[in-house]
Amino acid sequence: MSICFSPYRFTLHSPKALSFSKCMSSQSINQFQINHALHASSSCLSLSEKMRCGRDRVCSVSAAAARAEISTEASFRSKAPKDINILVVGSTGYIGKFVVKELVKRGYNVIAVARERSGIRGSKSKNDTLAELNGANVCFSDVTNLTTLEESLSNLGYPVDVVVSCLASRSGGVKDSWKIDYEATKNSLLAGKKYGAAHFVLLSAICVQKPLLEFQRAKLKFEAELMQQASEDGGMTYSIVRPTAFFKSLGGQVELVKDGKPYVMFGDGKLCACKPMSEQDLASFIADCVLSEDKVNQILPIGGPGKALTPLEQGEMLFQLAGKKPNFIKVPIGVMDFAISVLDLLVKVFPGMEDAAEFGKIGRYYAAESMLVLDPETGEYSAEKTPSYGKDTLEDFFARVLREGMAGQELGEQTIF
Ligand SMILES: NC(=O)c1ccc[n+]([C@@H]2O[C@H](COP(=O)([O-])OP(=O)(O)OC[C@H]3O[C@@H](n4cnc5c(N)ncnc54)[C@H](OP(=O)(O)O)[C@@H]3O)[C@@H](O)[C@H]2O)c1
Repeated sequence: MSICFSPYRFTLHSPKALSFSKCMSSQSINQFQINHALHASSSCLSLSEKMRCGRDRVCSVSAAAARAEISTEASFRSKAPKDINILVVGSTGYIGKFVVKELVKRGYNVIAVARERSGIRGSKSKNDTLAELNGANVCFSDVTNLTTLEESLSNLGYPVDVVVSCLASRSGGVKDSWKIDYEATKNSLLAGKKYGAAHFVLLSAICVQKPLLEFQRAKLKFEAELMQQASEDGGMTYSIVRPTAFFKSLGGQVELVKDGKPYVMFGDGKLCACKPMSEQDLASFIADCVLSEDKVNQILPIGGPGKALTPLEQGEMLFQLAGKKPNFIKVPIGVMDFAISVLDLLVKVFPGMEDAAEFGKIGRYYAAESMLVLDPETGEYSAEKTPSYGKDTLEDFFARVLREGMAGQELGEQTIF
């Protein structure tokens, strides 16, 4: 038996228990899965001018006013897209790939940082990555090592205007979350800033509003430091994008339902809800953050179009599209609580199991917590207060997966045991 778990997804495989290899869905469940070009000639001059100009303004005006002014007047904002250099880290991820494509489509000069072996479990070669990120300047480097990353940017020979981070731990494990969601993301801020970046766009997650998991704490720590940097240095602005659930996190049961299997959910299937968003729509929203003045120095929760959907509603939609009679399995949430308490005990004896215990908590979190804005006035999740963006609906996505399968929507699973 193996348990595979990462943020937004949790998979329990059992060769014996067929029921476990069926999908159990809450917000994000799959199988027993809780789903969970450039002006090289002008570059040096424009860089030094921009930095000097930024400092002057910060000295003479209040910090907030300075930031607002810089956001509209910082030199990169007045340049043509082809002259704006955008560094994308996490460029090979599910969202990162689409962000690179969208930025290239909008005519920016995109520098996509990638590993020599990228993708889920390093399945992509350098050539695969070059083909996938066609149109971008691919920079093979190491975001986990600040010196290496800085050397890579130095070798570019021109400054960076904007950094977009779509980095994320592929496993959601404790140490990897701190290494990627915090340290590597911070390296990209420091390196980008050193080479002139004036704006940082961060792909975060809506669930950091209620941080109970290590990857959420790691993301929040970086968010806080990014905002702190922006308040101290008028030359740097930010947009923090906190999306709701991605399509890939909700599609794990589509093919099973198509094959006549039941749809599995926790509780009554109404414990949580989300406004699912496609990769393309989120990439478009992230690309908007490069120049949109109303997105400067903002935390931006964002969901897809339409109403919020519970797992029950997602299941009903799926049965209707598949032309099958609804057939649900409702699993008490207490099953998750029991599994977590066992894992918490085990980790006291076997500290090496800390990731397994963390994955259990991630599963529990996505089984019961909505991916919607948490209204500070009521303490409740609010679909109405969760902004919508884009045009791709979950219904269309389900219909496509029923026709064509889940290709391109693979989850980066990590086998724990
Ligand atoms: N899934 C959801 O429903 C959901 C909802 C809201 C928000 N989010 C957030 O969205 C963000 C991005 O998600 P995603 O699904 O696009 O992530 P993903 O597909 O797992 O991509 C992660 C990216 O980070 C890079 N990365 C990871 N570990 C690395 C390492 N050690 N060294 C260098 N690069 C490394 C990966 O590079 P390689 O290709 O080389 O591995 C990849 O480019 C995450 O912060 C997540 O929390 C997800």
